[in-house]
Formats: sequence, C-alpha cells, structure tokens
Amino acid sequence: MFLGLDIGTSAVKGLVWDGARVLGAASAPLKVQVPVPGASEQDPEAWWRGILAVCAELSAQPGWAEVSAIGLSGQMHGAVCLGPDGAVLRPAILWNDNRAVREAAEMAALPGLAARVGVPPMPGFPAPKLAWLARTEPELHAATTMVMQAKDWVGMRLHGRAVTEYSEAAGTLWLDQAARDWDREALAFSGLERAQMPALGAGTDLAGPLSAAAAAALGLKPGVPVIRGGGDAMVGAAGIGVVAPGQAMISLGTSGQYLVASEAHRPNPAGLVHSFAHCVPGAYIQMAAMLNGAAPMAWLAGVLGRSVPDLLAAAETADPAHVPLFLPYLTGERTPHGDPEARAGFEGLSHGSGPGEMMRAVVDAIAYSFADAQAVLGEAGVRAASPLAIGGGARSDLVLQTLADVLEVPVQRPASADLGPALGAAKLAAVGSGAMPAARLADPPEIGAVFHPRPSARHGARLARYRALYSELRGVCARP
Ligand code: XUL
Repeated sequence: MFLGLDIGTSAVKGLVWDGARVLGAASAPLKVQVPVPGASEQDPEAWWRGILAVCAELSAQPGWAEVSAIGLSGQMHGAVCLGPDGAVLRPAILWNDNRAVREAAEMAALPGLAARVGVPPMPGFPAPKLAWLARTEPELHAATTMVMQAKDWVGMRLHGRAVTEYSEAAGTLWLDQAARDWDREALAFSGLERAQMPALGAGTDLAGPLSAAAAAALGLKPGVPVIRGGGDAMVGAAGIGVVAPGQAMISLGTSGQYLVASEAHRPNPAGLVHSFAHCVPGAYIQMAAMLNGAAPMAWLAGVLGRSVPDLLAAAETADPAHVPLFLPYLTGERTPHGDPEARAGFEGLSHGSGPGEMMRAVVDAIAYSFADAQAVLGEAGVRAASPLAIGGGARSDLVLQTLADVLEVPVQRPASADLGPALGAAKLAAVGSGAMPAARLADPPEIGAVFHPRPSARHGARLARYRALYSELRGVCARP
C-alpha cells in the first residue's frame, strides 16, 4: 500500500493506492491569505494540519496499517524561509504572489540565465521573491538559513531531513536545468548560497524514514520510507503516465498547465515555455503554465452564489447571441503574457446575458488560454497529439469538449482524472521503495472518455477577438 500526499493551494489531498486501485482518498481545505494586493501567502502549519486531517480520515480506510511507502507532491515555486533552529520565519510566499515585479525584471536582464534556469524570471518564482525579500524585509532575509518548497517542508516534518528533488528545484529558478545542480549566479542574485538549499536528488529517491513522532501522529509504522516525489505539475503527469517524449497533459486546477514530456532540456525563453526537470529520473518537460487554470469557474460561482456544476448546466443552454468574451486573468498571467498586472473582465455583456452566458464565456476563456499555450508550445517545436486532462476542471464534459473544439485535437479524460498529483505521488512512492519498476510509470492510464473536436464548433473568430482584446487592453488597463 502506498500513500500519496499532495499539498495543493486550495486543499491538502491524500490517497492510498495498492499498485492497481485507489482504496481511499481524502482532502482538507486550505485558505490563501492576501495581506496586501498582489500577495498570496499560507502558513506552513496549515499544511501540516491538513496532512493530519487527511491522514486521520484515511486511517479509517482499509489498507492504512499496511502503508509501506509515502510519496509527496506539492504546489511549486513557494518560499518557506527557515531560521537556524528550523523555525518558520514568515508565512510562505506562494506561486501566484505577484509582488516581486521589479526583481523579476532585473533577474531577467542577466545574460544567458533564462535558458540555463529554464524560463525567464517572473514574479511568482522563488529567485526574484527572495531578492524582493532582501529589499523589503532585510532582517528576515538575513536570518534565513534555508529556503524550502511546500512538500519538502512537510517532508521535513515527516522525516527530519532537508532534501528536495530536481523537479521542484527546477521551479525555483536556482537550478541549472541541464547540469542538475544549483546555479551560483542565480542564487547570488537572491542573496543566497548553496548551503541555504536543501540536498538535491531524484523524485524517486528516498527522502528519509518516517520518524517515530510523525508515525505516532499519523498512525503509521515508524521507519516507513518517505520518497521525495516532485512538483504538482510533474507528479500529476507521472500519475497518468505522461513520461515518454511527446506525451501531454492538460491540468485544470487552481492553476493550469499544458505539459509535454521531453528527453532533454530544451529551453525556449522567448515563448515563456517552462523547460524543467521532470520528477521521473532523467526526464524533462516543456510546460506552458497559466496562473488562472480552472479557477475562474469557482470565482464566478462564488460571485453569483451558485455552485460550479449548477452554472455549468446553465452554460450548456446559453444563448450564443448573448455570450460575452471573458479574459481569465484574475491573478495576472505567466504563459504566454508574463504579465503580473493583467486582470480579468467580461466584454460584450447585453440584457440577454445571464449566469449561463457568463459561465459559457468563462469556459471558452479557459479553453482559449490553453490555445495560447498550445501556440507557444508549437513555436517551441512541441506538438501534443491527444493530451490527457486532469484536475477539478476536467470533471466537466462541457469544459473538455470546448477544449477539444478550440485546440482541434482529441482530449482524453483518464478514469483517474480527479485524483490529480496525489496518485502520481503514490506511484513515485511505489517506485522509490522498490516495489514497482520505474518503467511502469509510463503505463497508459485507463481512459474514461475521449472528446473529439467538432468541425461545426470552430472557435477561430472568437479566439481571434479574445486575443485582440487582451493586447488592446494591455496598454489601456496598466495599473500605476
Ligand atoms: C506550475 C505552477 C503550479 C503550482 C501550483 O508552474 O505554478 O503547478 O505548482 O499548483
């Protein structure tokens, strides 16, 4: 039995997998703090409370006492600052925090750096964020002896060691992707040294044995191997067999990713494609990473006081004549715009536009953001034949049919689409503990449904207007 744990942004999720079937799954919600505009923070203790809640629920499931390895996944690009005694010095700064605008621009100006670290620096990445911290909270920066990622910090609570692995290190912008080693120039830009980084390894490497204290807290056996795992985008891909070059995943969570596996580091800084290490040994990925993913659906449901499924049902019968355009940039955007100041908006509302028409516009916009992703991946020479879709947004037939229509490729929904990175984490635990050969990570998943593009449902003209709307508004709506 293998336990997969994923520290997401909106929830901690966990599941028990027996090598073939998922025996039980649980989740515990998380909140994001926004102390000032542009900020996005979480208290790492909330992640640990989430782990305890998830494991308490899972312990009622069959197989709990048999858990023989634990694998980890987590939201990427965070910054957990620790002091000399290992204490957390401030709330973690998350992947969608947009305060380090100036520092990202300064780092992006360092010649040759973007290709080495995999993508041009943008404000949500740890490297510019630590430079921002040096400027805005210099005493705290000076007191920081270690910077960690969410799942690695949780891992330290489980086994006591400060370790990470290449996929998560890749997302810090402190890793030289081809050399798979910390990049001295990138670290120096953030006022850091190699000694402040956790130890590197592969996603399937042992992180450490479960400590007696953590075992008692979780109701598991002490000494159970904790396997390093990886960043949620890569672990989500590993969970559905997206490992071999050219295989593709569309992830529709709080954030969105269009990720294609690759055998080598192929940087393409111009298109803001992320070229990072995979969590699977030796492999790489190329990824368009969108900050808004499927989150606009939950946002609209919250604003209108309705549920997402209810609004999706209304969207099915929306009157096309009254469906507006929507720009989904609630929290700025990474690929393809690199624009932390971008914001969302409807254009073209009329008296006939109700909740269903607005939701239809939101669904179209999610698909259009993936069309932009597909375009920049194409410019980088990457083609995805039939991507596999996972994450909360992939539950909806309307969303996946719209994606297939807009991307003009078949979109597949694995039967395990809902399980997301927690399944990949359990599979990495199985490989890392020696119970499963690494080659099995490439096993194709069982497919639940395939959505084929419908020539009658082309979106070309609307997609062109969506793109024009963003570029027209970029100048007009720039915030001071
Ligand atoms: C990937 C990305 C997200 C975050 C949060 O680049 O930003 O996957 O890890 O889920």
